[in-house]
Amino acid sequence: MSSPSEVARAGAALRAGELVGFPTETVYGLGADAENAEALHRLYAAKGRPSEHPVIVHLGSAAALDDWGTEVSSTARTLAAEWWPGPLTLIVRAAARVSRVATGGLETVGLRVPAHPVALQLLDAFGGGIAAPSANRFGRVSPTTAAAVSREFGSDLAVVLDGGPCAVGVESTIVDCTQSVPRVLRHGAVTIEMITELLGAAPGVGGTTRAPGTLASHYAPDARVEVVEIDALEARVHALADAGVTCGVIEIRATAPPERPETVVTLATVSTVEHYAQVLYSALRKADDLGVDVVLAVSPPLDGIGAAVADRLHRGAAGR
Ligand code: TXA
Ligand code: MG
Repeated sequence: MSSPSEVARAGAALRAGELVGFPTETVYGLGADAENAEALHRLYAAKGRPSEHPVIVHLGSAAALDDWGTEVSSTARTLAAEWWPGPLTLIVRAAARVSRVATGGLETVGLRVPAHPVALQLLDAFGGGIAAPSANRFGRVSPTTAAAVSREFGSDLAVVLDGGPCAVGVESTIVDCTQSVPRVLRHGAVTIEMITELLGAAPGVGGTTRAPGTLASHYAPDARVEVVEIDALEARVHALADAGVTCGVIEIRATAPPERPETVVTLATVSTVEHYAQVLYSALRKADDLGVDVVLAVSPPLDGIGAAVADRLHRGAAGR
């Protein structure tokens, strides 16, 4: 865990227009001052992200919602009151202070209060809004440890704060609250079922907004990802091995796996969908570190955060 003096140093770096890696409960973020256009250009350059793709602005508390958004709907307020701090991003109309570099030129902005003590300490030390996409290069797998951020960006970052491995492991749920019916643009730990129960009506799902997290080919490791049903796993493992293809397996099981050919490695063995979400991205990174050709990921149950895991796996399987 980063010390209070490191957090203070990171806050000063943000004020100086520099970039900072920091933990959230979902994935690590690559932060810049949301009101500093020059710092934001540096952020887009480091990430290799097209300038028309908006980034999320992180806030220290729900009380700041009206400082960064305007015409905020009662639905957005209800969602924020229930889940902030937490893994939920709300799209609202952007207040004047939000740099249009951060919004990719849009008049709307994604806002989120992260539920991680180090992120909240950083927001407090900095004092403003922190624009932060996930701390990976564009199109790559999001990082869930400080070490993964440092490996990806090295000396491009003034500071990388360490908050341990991310508790959730996949990116926040994104809900567009700018229309009369809210729309879920990205699946996450706050599920459609939870939103439906809170609002008493089902939100729309999917959309055509500029969200790279919704591109078919996002979240792809170098290895080819195949999503397989659990009953088909062993046959596929052996077929790949017989074809001379190396593979890594992400599986759900309570007991030790059966004997497998030596070209097969276990990337992760998980017990629940929450556990699957936590280890998914580190397993995909491990696949690339080991240089395996194929990742065989067992299809998760779709309840709870399982829908978000399945969504990321299918996007990863679509390749880059
Ligand atoms: O969990 C998370 O959300 C992480 C952590 C760091 O907070 N952040 C994250 O950021 O995943 P990023 O930039 O990788 O993904 C943010 C998504 C993108 O797909 C972006 O297009 C969408 O949010 N987004 C941001 N502002 C938007 C807007 N005004 N309209 C539509 N989509 C928006
Ligand atoms: Mg991302």
